[in-house]
Amino acid sequence: MSSPLRLGIAGLGTVGMGVVGIVQDHAALIAARAGRAVQIVAVSARDKTRDRGRDLSGYAFEADPVALARRSDIDVFVEVMGGHEGPARAATEAAIAAGHDVVTANKALLAHHGQALALAAEAAGRSIRFEAAVAGGIPVIKALTEGLAANRMRRVMGVMNGTCNYILTRMEATGQGYNVLFQECADLGYLEADPNLDVGGIDAGHKLSLLAAIAFGTEVSFDAVELEGIQNVSLDDIRLARDMGYRIKLLGVAQMTGRGLEQRMTPCLVPADSPLGQLQGGTNMVVLEGDQVGQIVLRGPGAGMGPTASAVMADVIDLARGVRLPVFGQPAATLTRPVAARTATPAPYYLRMMLLDKPGALAKIATCLGEAGVSIDQMRQYGHEGVNAPVLIVTHKATRDDIAHAMGLFGGTGVLVGDPVALRIEEV
Ligand code: HSE
Repeated sequence: MSSPLRLGIAGLGTVGMGVVGIVQDHAALIAARAGRAVQIVAVSARDKTRDRGRDLSGYAFEADPVALARRSDIDVFVEVMGGHEGPARAATEAAIAAGHDVVTANKALLAHHGQALALAAEAAGRSIRFEAAVAGGIPVIKALTEGLAANRMRRVMGVMNGTCNYILTRMEATGQGYNVLFQECADLGYLEADPNLDVGGIDAGHKLSLLAAIAFGTEVSFDAVELEGIQNVSLDDIRLARDMGYRIKLLGVAQMTGRGLEQRMTPCLVPADSPLGQLQGGTNMVVLEGDQVGQIVLRGPGAGMGPTASAVMADVIDLARGVRLPVFGQPAATLTRPVAARTATPAPYYLRMMLLDKPGALAKIATCLGEAGVSIDQMRQYGHEGVNAPVLIVTHKATRDDIAHAMGLFGGTGVLVGDPVALRIEEV
């Protein structure tokens, strides 16, 4: 057997300790599968003395992750600290400069600096692996870069933030509002240190931008992702969408169109009986569509100690086997700079509004839609609330600009009460 693969692990939180656990508990299994042993040489964490429930005495300790990254007695730098600047970035750059491969769970770091880091790693003949950064335990990076490598990818979609899916599905199941369930997530420890990363769609947007880079051979362009969080999704919309046969999900969609690369992470309606519509709780789902394979659906845990460490160790085992792929599936120098699509592909829209209950009100709204070139597919009026009538409209496919134009015209009718809601219906 060849010499052991030596790891330096920066970060001894949930994921880091999950990695330590797998290395300690599955040593024989890993050695058999990788053809060599994998051992931990050194670790780094903010607090050296905290009891983490595992024997770490055999590992050297570095207070500074950059010092760990520069050690000459490691082969792979495992970065599981998080954060897209500061120590995580500095240590990753230092590891590459020192000639080490990197395995990271850090989606934010790669979403912001992926291209520069990939260029540096590949120039040094090294790799950065990041299976754990997207959809936790689901092997989606491997699926895209290896299993589907012969496909021209058409579209990549996914529910990739478990916390948001937990909140949305609990809102439907319990009838409790967003604020109550946000607090429940805080109490359960589900939220990132900055909760806006979760509920603002940023964390899921980071993940989508990484998948898009691989799928379409483009430089990571997180800044071009259209982002909208779940903070304004109302119980009314969850209930009414359900009534029309849909569920609301924080859905990521990336596709290459004739107008450029479209990347969206926004609340959308999906058919309630589709795999995405049926996804409950904190689970993730990624849907990959290739021209040869058709549609692949991957479902599994998107966070947590075991699933995330499982993904980190899959990358470590590949490196132990000598498998060193380009970071984004093709050399970073060959990735093209994407042009961002200015508008989303046309889709049906769900419109909810409150109208004054008087003759001709609905006709005025229908006229506005007609003037904007938007055709109505379904319409429903619900029991009156005082002098107002809640109205739901599902349109045929329309552009977002046309929907915005129609909504602008609604304001001039004199029959609209409050602000209308428009949500895209994604054909999945
Ligand atoms: N906070 C994320 C989630 C997991 O809720 O899915 C880490 O990206």
